Amino acid sequence: MAHKQILVAPSLLSADFSHMAEGIRLIEKGGGDWVHLDVMDGSFVPNITFGPPMVAALRPHTRLFFDAHLMIAHPERYVEKFVEAGADGVTIHFESIVHVHRTLGEIRRLGAKVGVSIVPSTPAETLSEVLCDVDLVLVMTVNPGFGGQELIPRTLEKVRVLDALRHEHQYRYLIQVDGGINRDTCRQAVGAGADVLVAGSAVFRAENPQAEIDRLRCRPARAGEL
Ligand code: DX5
Ligand code: ZN
Repeated sequence: MAHKQILVAPSLLSADFSHMAEGIRLIEKGGGDWVHLDVMDGSFVPNITFGPPMVAALRPHTRLFFDAHLMIAHPERYVEKFVEAGADGVTIHFESIVHVHRTLGEIRRLGAKVGVSIVPSTPAETLSEVLCDVDLVLVMTVNPGFGGQELIPRTLEKVRVLDALRHEHQYRYLIQVDGGINRDTCRQAVGAGADVLVAGSAVFRAENPQAEIDRLRCRPARAGEL
């Protein structure tokens, strides 16, 4: 059986913030599929990164898919600004807002790909009422806020559950994993059903980022290797 296509989405969180456009060039040169943009507000997560002006400033530098991961309170106030700035996909956290369904609909109306994310303590089943409306489910494999953390193995069980649910209901969402993904853990994530791998430090701290991106496009682990 042919292996499914795995997308690699390097995160600019681990790039040099004084040369973000250089980070984009590195992703392009290395054959990355998406540019993962980690937006943090110091409220929903204990760290602050950047907002729509950074996305707009980077937009002219590439045609790669801009994958905006909003780790912010009140995402409903900002989704339009991120799409206007050039985000191709917008992912909001299920835990960040009561009216998730309304804001997912707003992202769709704005013409961007629709993503929903859960932190490690949120069960996959919590998403049952929105799975039919999303293009992407982002399973956080670390507690969001910082790069360079270790993957929490238990979170991969949720990837399995989400993979089973999409088969059962014929949903079409991609499953993305984010946090602690490297050349070793990528195989477990893909084996569990992940399609899109976010990697920050694994790519940007590598001696050869291009080779590292290639390594991340790994074959799934066989049963027994997990
Ligand atoms: C964490 C961010 C991740 C982070 C991943 O809150 O959402 O995208 O950059 O970094 P690594 O790959 O270093 O764990
Ligand atoms: Zn992220």
